[in-house]
Amino acid sequence: MDHHIEVFLKRLSYIALAIGTLTFLFLILEIPDTCVAPDSPPKPHLRFPKHSCDHHPRQHLPLHKKNKRLWSSATWQNQVRSFSHLFHSFYQIGLLHNHSKVLCVSAGAGHEVMALSHLGVDDVTGIELLDSPPLVSRADPHNLPFFDDVFDFGFSARLELALFPSRFAAEMERTVRPGGVCAVAVEECGDGEVKEIAGLFRNSRFLGAMNVTLTGLRMTRIIMRVKHSP
Ligand SMILES: *[C@@H]1O[C@H](CO)[C@@H](O)[C@H](O)[C@H]1NC(C)=O
Ligand SMILES: *[C@@H]1O[C@H](CO)[C@@H](O)[C@H](O)[C@H]1NC(C)=O
Repeated sequence: MDHHIEVFLKRLSYIALAIGTLTFLFLILEIPDTCVAPDSPPKPHLRFPKHSCDHHPRQHLPLHKKNKRLWSSATWQNQVRSFSHLFHSFYQIGLLHNHSKVLCVSAGAGHEVMALSHLGVDDVTGIELLDSPPLVSRADPHNLPFFDDVFDFGFSARLELALFPSRFAAEMERTVRPGGVCAVAVEECGDGEVKEIAGLFRNSRFLGAMNVTLTGLRMTRIIMRVKHSP
């Protein structure tokens, strides 16, 4: 019993940490509308104190240069390799194909999207609360902007960070077609927790779980097959 409470509290603190981090990211990434570019002509009715916007001069690197720098870093490449390794195992057991239509939910900066593209998957969609073009578009994992049954394979390595994990799982299931696969990677856990997580996918059948190392972390990957509607 105590163990359950401890696990619950631990989850709660992870969730709080995730919300805090996302809020912080939003705050630093959202440029206020009141910021006027230094070279734009002064508008008489728009006079703001200079220092509010000029405090941290932003380096305006074009997106493709920014991405080139990011994608050539060793950290990025190692993480992409790690995801490739995981997805390769899905190819080997016949759950993923080059012609699969794949959705990556809460895809962060897009490591898994790049890994899938490199493996040869033609059609990969990555979404996250904050977009990272061109790999990841902005969307709410709890309210996916896709029709039902449009993907063959749904993947997420961030189910645990979701505010509402059951809603998150339900949305993955809704957008993956019957007979398609939902796969998640979570912090390494035992059979009880695996069952709990698989249980979030109410309309799917548990296919299997395996402990893996993903991006240097010990994780458990759990696979479910979406059931055909009765
Ligand atoms: C998938 O596509 C890649 C790149 O086009 C190719 O190298 C690979 O052999 C393909 N894999 C399969 C299983 O067809
Ligand atoms: C994964 O590792 C945990 C221990 O951290 C263990 O309890 C569990 O049985 C392992 N799961 C699998 C599928 O091997």
